Amino acid sequence: MTNTHSAGASLEYASPDEIVVSDALKVYGSGAGEVTALSHVDLTVKRGQFVSVIGPSGCGKSTMLRMIAGLEQPDSGEVSVFGAHPDEACAAKMIGFVPQVPALLPWLSVLGNVTIPSKVNRRADALRRTLPGHVARPATDPRVLLTKLGLGDAIDRLPHQLSGGMQQRVAIARAFSIQADVLLMDEPFSALDEFTREAIQVQLLELWEQMRTTVVFVTHSVSEAVVLSDVVVVMSARPGRIEAVIPIDLPRPRRQGLLEAAAMHEYEDLIREKLQTAWASGPVVR
Ligand SMILES: Nc1ncnc2c1ncn2[C@@H]1O[C@H](COP(=O)(O)OP(=O)(O)O)[C@@H](O)[C@H]1O
Ligand SMILES: [Mg+2]
Repeated sequence: MTNTHSAGASLEYASPDEIVVSDALKVYGSGAGEVTALSHVDLTVKRGQFVSVIGPSGCGKSTMLRMIAGLEQPDSGEVSVFGAHPDEACAAKMIGFVPQVPALLPWLSVLGNVTIPSKVNRRADALRRTLPGHVARPATDPRVLLTKLGLGDAIDRLPHQLSGGMQQRVAIARAFSIQADVLLMDEPFSALDEFTREAIQVQLLELWEQMRTTVVFVTHSVSEAVVLSDVVVVMSARPGRIEAVIPIDLPRPRRQGLLEAAAMHEYEDLIREKLQTAWASGPVVR
């Protein structure tokens, strides 16, 4: 990690209360193998929002998330995380990442896996206190987080003694426990069965409604995007670009009954329509 970027100094579009992706371009490979993963991508996520990103496989969702996390650099354009360069935000642990497959340390207990990030790299705490876009939050007891996610009885178990759904809950508890300013989640529930998935969605919503951490959540599921989000971003492929940004104006807290609500189905239909338009319009060369 580099710390060469002073807080937002070189970032034209940086804002202390927003994540901003501005006119991002990302090209992989060269010659015949060249892939434009992202082209002219603009996105603003306000602090406290739950934003989902949906789109066909290969449209650049993971690339965009990895760019916000500082794991990829745009070829042109700019990314800032609450006023800071992503590298700096990452070094200061302003960013929590939940990947598709939970990367738990196999020799540590559930509790050990959740507490490890706050034990290592204490320098990050000092660094993030210097960043104007960081909002300090009171620490949440990891046991409380685990209990809220239904893992109260499993805190001493090792990862191999857990189901896939339980492992993913541990990864979520770990991401919340570092008191990050933003959680980036890349299809975290896609490997889970339908029943487990819905149960975890409810737990994630309950936790989020208390913590109000900013979340950028990649999903393949239209209904998941609607039920969770304040805003759904629809992407299309070749090159990856943003097709539509749809605010979801449904009351919170969102509970079971919502799944049957007509308003929810209207949003789902609208998103499906945008996804179809994205396909029908075919490759756009810019
Ligand atoms: N490291 C890489 N090297 C080459 N091509 C890549 C790399 N990462 C992603 N791509 C390509 O970029 C495009 C977008 O990928 P990705 O962001 O993973 O899409 P999504 O997450 O929406 O499925 C795809 O065509 C993919 O094959
Ligand atoms: Mg992906």
